[in-house]
Amino acid sequence: MVVARVVSILREGEPESKVTARGWVRTRRDSRNGFSFIELNDGSCLKNLQVVVDAAVPGYEQTIRQVTTGSSVSVVGVLKESPGKGQRVELHAESLELIGTADPAEYPLQKKGHSMEFLRDIAHLRPRTNTFGAVARVRNQICWSIHSFFQKRGFLYLNSPIITTSDCEGAGEMFQVTTLDLSMLAQRQIDQINWKHDFFGKPASLTVSGQLEAETYATSVGDCYTFGPTFRAENSNTSRHLAEFWMVEPEMPFYELPDNMDLAEEFIRSIVNDVLEHCGEDMEFFAQRIDKGVMERLETICSREFMRVPYTEAVEIILQSGREFEYPIEWGSDLQTEHERFLTEEHFRQPVILYDYPRTLKPFYMRCNDDGRTVRAMDVLVAGVGEIIGGSQREERLDVLEQRMQECGLDPAEYWWYTDLRRYGTVPHSGFGLGLERAVLLITGMANIRDVIPFPRTPGHAEF
Ligand code: 4AD
Ligand code: MG
Repeated sequence: MVVARVVSILREGEPESKVTARGWVRTRRDSRNGFSFIELNDGSCLKNLQVVVDAAVPGYEQTIRQVTTGSSVSVVGVLKESPGKGQRVELHAESLELIGTADPAEYPLQKKGHSMEFLRDIAHLRPRTNTFGAVARVRNQICWSIHSFFQKRGFLYLNSPIITTSDCEGAGEMFQVTTLDLSMLAQRQIDQINWKHDFFGKPASLTVSGQLEAETYATSVGDCYTFGPTFRAENSNTSRHLAEFWMVEPEMPFYELPDNMDLAEEFIRSIVNDVLEHCGEDMEFFAQRIDKGVMERLETICSREFMRVPYTEAVEIILQSGREFEYPIEWGSDLQTEHERFLTEEHFRQPVILYDYPRTLKPFYMRCNDDGRTVRAMDVLVAGVGEIIGGSQREERLDVLEQRMQECGLDPAEYWWYTDLRRYGTVPHSGFGLGLERAVLLITGMANIRDVIPFPRTPGHAEF
């Protein structure tokens, strides 16, 4: 007899074989002729295992009433071909052990559908629902695909630091890390703070990106990628922003911008294909219950080349569209999600890579174009999400880089190790960052980024 997970029982369990299944009860139904049916789920797949419990099973009378939604049980029994629709086999119990009860008067997940907002308030229990189980499995698959995409291509996985003293994106949106007594600090002027007394001897923060460190390795050991948590203290309450999110950042020496675009495009397509191949049942669920258009969007991504459009042209298109947008736009202004979604969902109707953005919009490290106005930036835009990837060719010329740093209010001396890469054996190089949660949004069709990370952190919210 084997203890098996529901996914393998449903897929390959042999009729007449004996198995033990354990998990949480989704529902119980009692028939009038001395049977109970339990829908058992253990999170290994979307489907439940149907368990048939005969009243003759030892202890039936004493336990069956407590086998309620949310309780945990262990069942030993024999698999039988299922006469019912929707499953190949069902489990006929020989013994039933109630492991943990769940008081029906208190257990918050009852049979009826719950709103996403309600489920966010019980983020510790929401993985027991179909939707959040499916999101967890797809997210897991995406992480696996990310690693396998890069590992297959010989990229080195680099663990960049979480605590840092540099501001990669230069936006000043960083969470400070300090051991100074904040209640004491509150009574002082900022210039009275002696950072020498702080843990690191100078102001430190949670990282907004592992890119700068990845550049040091890319220009030493070659193609590499970081993949880890990233933090942004930006006060944006949108369905696309988190204060803590996961980002994968590849960095490649000798890549110029078009090479970077090729890789980004291949990367997204490879993740989508992997999920379609390995998470078929969960994807069917998303297509039926969450977003009817999700499959079509993913097919477009897999089958069409991404459009490549300079920023300047994109602004022209938006201006000439005659559409009313909430945020007006002119050359030099940042594209908002509404503009990005207009371009990819309505105008081009396929993924778009915008490139050559105004230098004033982008961080110091992007390579300057000869026009003096734009930098070799690229943003990949997809339907339903907007920007999913941001990246660039990096400035490899020391003098231009130092000038750009000064322009951006950074002191090159503070970034001496970063500028050293241009001092010793500099090479053209490029990279990009993909937000993991934006990828999960794209692939599942879920509407809010708070629902594709287990425990979302947003302004005012850090429960669990
Ligand atoms: O465009 P971003 O800020 O680029 C960087 O951080 C570069 N250092 C990447 C690189 O070139 N190595 O962020 C990259 C991606 C975005 O396209 C988006 O998918 C995601 O990270 N992202 C966020 N996801 C969720 N919440 C936020 N607040 C995000 N900010 C960025
Ligand atoms: Mg960006």
